[in-house]
Amino acid sequence: MAGKLIILLGPPGAGKGTQAKKISEKFKIPHVSTGDMLREAVRNGTELGLKAKAAMDSGKLVSDEIVLGIVKERIFRSDCEKGCMLDGFPRNISQAESLKNMVGNDREMVALLIDVDKDILIKRLTGRRNCLKCGAIYNVYFSPPRVEGKCDRCGGDLVQRDDDREDVVKKRLEVYEKNTLPLIEYYESEGILKKVDGSMDPDVVFEKIVQKLDLK
Ligand code: AP5
Ligand code: MG
Repeated sequence: MAGKLIILLGPPGAGKGTQAKKISEKFKIPHVSTGDMLREAVRNGTELGLKAKAAMDSGKLVSDEIVLGIVKERIFRSDCEKGCMLDGFPRNISQAESLKNMVGNDREMVALLIDVDKDILIKRLTGRRNCLKCGAIYNVYFSPPRVEGKCDRCGGDLVQRDDDREDVVKKRLEVYEKNTLPLIEYYESEGILKKVDGSMDPDVVFEKIVQKLDLK
């Protein structure tokens, strides 16, 4: 059987990307983020990117058809055989059902909810800056870079995501509550849901995740 498929669930700003990066570095499993892949397509101006851009900029979900296409292409690549982490997918019940059909009984799946209160989320998102070069994530309120606008690790430029403006953040939280929140019950009923409190320091959250998922 192929390695474990870890589904990271949680509202925008919960720390899915932050934790996925840590897990990926420590346990050498690919980090598959639909948000990152879509943003790359937008940056490269591909046809798919052009189709996704409007929905992303306004905080809405990109169509299931586009998202399923990129996920299918990614999770069956050989580097995912030893396991992989899905960050930002599935995002509604229909995507969850499609994922189930896609992988069949071939893979062990676990869904991990990173839980954080809404008031913290807004500050995390509006303060977030990403390195264009190496993908490192900073927050101007909680974890600022040493030099404003520059990555500590590689010196790359730090940018704000277009959808981290306050009005779009509010929309993303609404979309999460309406479409993605039902997945908690869905995975609970499948018997594969685990939860972790995501409001603590990122390193503490990481340790909890390692324990909960029994990662080795
Ligand atoms: P996506 O990129 O998935 O965004 P999201 O779910 O809104 O999640 P974020 O990336 O904002 O939050 P995160 O949980 O990864 O937090 P992070 O670690 O960065 O999706 C973007 C868009 O793409 C969607 O709106 C949609 O349009 C489209 N899309 C993507 N997938 C789709 C799908 N499956 N179907 C349809 N459409 C799709 O952390 C956030 C901030 O908090 C950072 O500044 C970080 O430094 C800080 N932080 C993190 N952890 C901590 C901590 N423990 N303590 C203090 N600060 C912390
Ligand atoms: Mg993310």
